[in-house]
Amino acid sequence: MNESFPLVVANFKANKTWDELALWLDVVGSKASEFPGTIIVCPTAAFLASSYQKLKTQNSKLILGTQDISRFEQGAYTGELAASQIADLVKYSIIGHSERRQNFAETDEVLAQKVKNAQAANIVPIFCVQDENTSIPDQVTYVAYEPIFAIGTGNPDTPQNAQMISAKLRARGDYIVIYGGSVNAQNAPAFLKKGVIDGLLIATSSLDPQTFIQVVQNSTQ
Ligand code: PGA
Repeated sequence: MNESFPLVVANFKANKTWDELALWLDVVGSKASEFPGTIIVCPTAAFLASSYQKLKTQNSKLILGTQDISRFEQGAYTGELAASQIADLVKYSIIGHSERRQNFAETDEVLAQKVKNAQAANIVPIFCVQDENTSIPDQVTYVAYEPIFAIGTGNPDTPQNAQMISAKLRARGDYIVIYGGSVNAQNAPAFLKKGVIDGLLIATSSLDPQTFIQVVQNSTQ
């Protein structure tokens, strides 16, 4: 991948109707070219194709990612979304978000299969870990450090601790590390440190387009 840094990832989780998402893509897309880094937007899977068409028409700098993919390849797996089915639409997939681990009982083995399927379809995994000891499948490049206590709580990790965990993770492998957990426009710059934390994964503060633009603008300072 030749992306520029910092990497700012918006994870909408199960939020937004198509109309809300389309408006967000318009508003943020119109500002994206001013940002020297990379913005990855991860909407619900239902809107990946329509988002892709919209971004293509607008020649947008926004890049699409998915919040998850199936552990299975195409076949008799009702309700699943195989990596190869969305490979033309997305460049990235979040894998191993703690909400997936907790609510859908995703084990290390399942997550390793998801990483394998993503990579076979040329989708880059953004692999979420909860601490410095979380198992990381081979060939993962992008790791998102997301401590559970910080997700959606308004209680972020300290930048110092996040950078220390990042250093520990990078001692385990040649990873690009991003941080997620209660990032907002005010605290975003403190987490970023080139070569240590090269990006942010943001849910709550990504939902409102103006708030997200503020986060992105502050991330370049
Ligand atoms: P938050 O969530 O930004 O709402 O804390 C982060 C995440 O779940 O990735």
